[in-house]
Amino acid sequence: MNESIREAAQRSVLCWLATVDAEGQPNVSPKEVWAIADDQHVVVAHIASPVSARNIGLQPQVCLSFVDVFVQKGFKLKGMAHEVRADESDFSRWAEPLLAVVGQRFVIQSVLVIRVTAVAPIVAPSYRFYADETTELDQVASAMRTYGVLPNTNSL
Ligand SMILES: Cc1cc2nc3c(=O)[nH]c(=O)nc-3n(C[C@H](O)[C@H](O)[C@H](O)COP(=O)(O)O)c2cc1C
Repeated sequence: MNESIREAAQRSVLCWLATVDAEGQPNVSPKEVWAIADDQHVVVAHIASPVSARNIGLQPQVCLSFVDVFVQKGFKLKGMAHEVRADESDFSRWAEPLLAVVGQRFVIQSVLVIRVTAVAPIVAPSYRFYADETTELDQVASAMRTYGVLPNTNSL
């Protein structure tokens, strides 16, 4: 994972983690306390994610996606996950980037460590099907109208 993915991850704020149980039933839920730990690994805080944690114990294949909802671009990461509990020796290594996000506000029960094996971009269809007339600035303006977000006049 390169710097552009790292930047996109920071801008996206939220990611969605998909796991699957032993019967093949998919499960997806949002996570805000997550980080790209290094070139190969993404870490997600299990604060209140019992199903994700349980599924990873049964079946390590996961998919994690994130988009900047204003620019409407992001990435889909696939990989193999394992759970590192708070009493394990490498917990503090993996938890470090998450503690930088969450501080002392929540207890991190365990870290879901994902070794990323595939990365694919996600882009809104307008960038593909209306490429001539679609810019990132247009998409941001359009998304701000959709979400009812006013421009930040402090940055003007
Ligand atoms: C905006 C948002 C951010 C969240 N971030 C996290 C998070 O970083 N870690 C976590 O464990 N739960 C987080 N949650 C809560 C879980 O998504 C929620 O408890 C969910 O039901 C867990 O489902 P799971 O057990 O299938 O993972 C967040 C929820 C929302 C709405």
